[in-house]
Amino acid sequence: MIPEEIIQYLKSNATFVSGQKLSQHLKISRAAVWKYVHELRESGYRIEAVPHRGYRLKFVPDKLLPWEIRAGLATRVLGHEVFCYDTLPSTMDEAFRLAEGNQCREGALVCAESQTRGRGRMGRTWFSPKGKGIYASLVLKPFLAPSEVSWITFVAAIAVCEGIRQTTGLAAAIKWPNDVLIKRKKVAGILTEMNAEVDRVHFVVVGLGLNVNIDKAHLPPQATSLRMELGGKVSRVLFLQAVLKQMEHWYGCLLERRFTPVLERWKELSVTLGRRIRISEHHKAIEGKAVDLSDDGGLIVLNSDGDLIKKMTGDVEFLD
Ligand code: BTN
Repeated sequence: MIPEEIIQYLKSNATFVSGQKLSQHLKISRAAVWKYVHELRESGYRIEAVPHRGYRLKFVPDKLLPWEIRAGLATRVLGHEVFCYDTLPSTMDEAFRLAEGNQCREGALVCAESQTRGRGRMGRTWFSPKGKGIYASLVLKPFLAPSEVSWITFVAAIAVCEGIRQTTGLAAAIKWPNDVLIKRKKVAGILTEMNAEVDRVHFVVVGLGLNVNIDKAHLPPQATSLRMELGGKVSRVLFLQAVLKQMEHWYGCLLERRFTPVLERWKELSVTLGRRIRISEHHKAIEGKAVDLSDDGGLIVLNSDGDLIKKMTGDVEFLD
C-alpha cells in the first residue's frame, strides 16, 4: 500500500526526503506522491514539505491505521490483515460479514474509530466515542468444538489484562466471565460470537472494547479508563499491539489443546475467586462464595446451604 510505504520511508529517514526520491522509491509520479501526502495529512499525520528539500515526518497521530498497527507488531498471525474504518455500526457485524464471505484470513482484525451500535453482552450497548477507545473484532478459525469456544473468551481476557499490565503497569484483573477491571471498575469488555454447526465451528469473532483515553465525565461511575487510572494518555496502537501479542501466545495454547496453563493464568488474574458474590441471570440470583472455575469455564459457587453450583452465564456483583 502506497500510504504505508510513504510513512515507512519517512519514518526511516529522520531528515528530509526529496519528492523525487520518494517517487523513484514508490515508482509513482511526484504529483501522485503529493496526493498521497495530502491524504496522509488529512488522516492526522504532520508532514512538513519544504521546496528543494522535500518531505519530513513531524508527527504520527494515535490512529488505528492498518500500517501503524502492523508496524512493530510482534505476532505471526493475529492482526496482520487489518480492516480499519472511521465509523461502523459495530465491528462485530463487519467481521462477521468478512468471515461469512470468506473475505478474510484467520487473525484478521476489524477496527473502528467509533461505533454507532457497539454491542456488549446480554443485549447491552457498548459506548464507543470517537478516537478514545479500541473497538476491535478479531476473526479466528480455531479447530475447537463449539462447547470449547468459551476458552477463547478466557484467553482474550488474559491477553487484555496482560496487555494493560505491560503497557501501563496498572494492576488489571478479570471478573468472571469476561470483564477486565482496574480497582473494581470495568475498563474492558469482551464479546465472543461464533458461526457454527452443532459439532463444528466455522469461525469465531472476538470483540474487544477497551476504554483507553475516555474521560471520567463520559463514563458511568462503575467504569474507568486507562487514562483515568494513569493520569495521562495511552497510545492505542502500542496497547493494541501488546494485547494481540499476548492473545496470540494464549490462543496458541488452545490450538495445542493445552488448556491447563490457560486455566491457571486465568485464576491468577481473577478477582472473582474467593469472593462473596451475587450472580444474576434472567431476574434470578444466587449468592455465595466463588470457589473455582470449572474446566468448561463455569463459575463454581458455594451457597449458604453448602451446595456447589456451577453457573455458565450471568452477571457477577461483589458482596465484600
Ligand atoms: C461486554 O462487556 O459487554 C462486552 C463488550 C464488547 C464491546 C466490543 S467493542 C468492539 C466490538 N464491537 C461491538 O459491537 N462490540 C465489541
